[in-house]
Amino acid sequence: MSVQIGRGSAGSARQATVVPLRRLLPMLVRGPVNAFAEVGRQARGQVVRLDLGPFRPYLVTHPDHVQYVMRTDWTNYQRVGKVWDPVERFLGTTFAGEGPDWESSRKAHQPMFTARHVTSLTGRLADVIAERVDRLDESARSGRPIDATKTMTDIVVAVNTMFFFGEKSSFEEGERLAREFGTAVKWLNVRQIMPFVPTAVPLPGDRAFANAVKAVDEMVYPLIRKARTASGDGHDVISALCRARDGSHADDRKVRDDLVAALVAGTDTTTHALAWMWPVLRDHPPVAARLYDEIDRVVGTGPVLPSHIPELRYTKMVLQEVLRLYPSGWIMQRFAAASGEIGGVSVNAGSTVFVSPYATHRLDEFWDRPLDFDPERFSPDIDTRRHRYSYFPFGGGPHQCIGQHLFQLVALLTIATLVSRFRPWVRNSGPFTPLPAALRPKQKIELGLVPVERSPHRAR
Ligand code: HEM
Repeated sequence: MSVQIGRGSAGSARQATVVPLRRLLPMLVRGPVNAFAEVGRQARGQVVRLDLGPFRPYLVTHPDHVQYVMRTDWTNYQRVGKVWDPVERFLGTTFAGEGPDWESSRKAHQPMFTARHVTSLTGRLADVIAERVDRLDESARSGRPIDATKTMTDIVVAVNTMFFFGEKSSFEEGERLAREFGTAVKWLNVRQIMPFVPTAVPLPGDRAFANAVKAVDEMVYPLIRKARTASGDGHDVISALCRARDGSHADDRKVRDDLVAALVAGTDTTTHALAWMWPVLRDHPPVAARLYDEIDRVVGTGPVLPSHIPELRYTKMVLQEVLRLYPSGWIMQRFAAASGEIGGVSVNAGSTVFVSPYATHRLDEFWDRPLDFDPERFSPDIDTRRHRYSYFPFGGGPHQCIGQHLFQLVALLTIATLVSRFRPWVRNSGPFTPLPAALRPKQKIELGLVPVERSPHRAR
């Protein structure tokens, strides 16, 4: 496929093919997430424009074009504009924005999110996860099913509370914070899908949104004050931000915005990626059997140790494939500051451009049997020479996810801990459909937990 990209209004650029509302509507009714994938597949990697009435965004799916938007010309494709306004009201303009404020946020977070630092916390993270998994014993004994999303949320909240606040906060407080985030994000999304409605025009949920933001502030500001006065060199994110030497985080508002932005970015994405694991394993018994075998062999009856992590190679491949089909950060929006050209198609200044890993990961042009679940695609023994932007669950370019090492580790620890103790099996039949909010499964995933026999030969 020939590709033409560039900035400026090249005379030869053509207008994007417009997908009319009458074609989009039935797809959107069937499910908005799959509508993007369907449009992408039909366009075969070409840039198209979606006619959503007063809102006419572009959809970019070809890996070359994705690379252009996310990396090559990223300063032109910005996280600003009408679609971002409601986000700013919750997360501020620092980590969730652009420019020098975003840069200082990224710089202050970076040391806490490196592979090296995250790996150094493996033992503590494993303990936090094991403590939450211990609480599932009762459900396993009584045969009572658990809600996969709720259980994964529980684990992720415990991990994030420890990682972001250390001893300064409790699990219960982290849980309350996550609940308020949920409310704020739910109503923020309502505004985001109607960017043409001015802020002054009230919409349902405005009050719930304001109350949730207020509740978040009432919890986070006291934690910042605690971190500022605490002695020592706490290894949590809030302490690191309060210690930032360049003075960038002297203002409590900046610390608050950064913390909330990073926590929001890292909570539902991690939770839902983990939740999709279980229906996928149910539907692919040979994959499940191989994953169980690996965990039995490496971890035995547990606990999961830092030395086990590099040995969980197949589990990691399964995770990568889950993130191919269910990349919870499934869509990114950008605002074209200046007019330009992507793939020979002119893009007008002021337009919204959507980039979607969910859609790109399903293109026949770049993936063999893209809709089949096959972890072998990620086998280190296979030389795939894949385009960097044919697989981008964590985005790319300067805004690439800062939390990917943390995710990898937490996900491996969670799966290994659960599987070393139980055989989780999905009791309800599905099908499970992804909702736009971080691909949350629409239907409840009911998990039964069968305790794993603790016979001595399973231990290492
Ligand atoms: C399955 C898990 C995750 C997925 C799929 C995911 C996905 C993404 C994607 C696609 C982006 C790019 C956004 C953009 O370009 O606009 C991103 C950015 C970001 N992610 Fe993640 N993420 C995950 C986990 C996490 C975790 C665990 C954290 C932190 C605790 C985190 C924090 C962030 C932050 C702060 C950014 C913004 C970075 C910047 O703009 O410089 N993410 N994530």
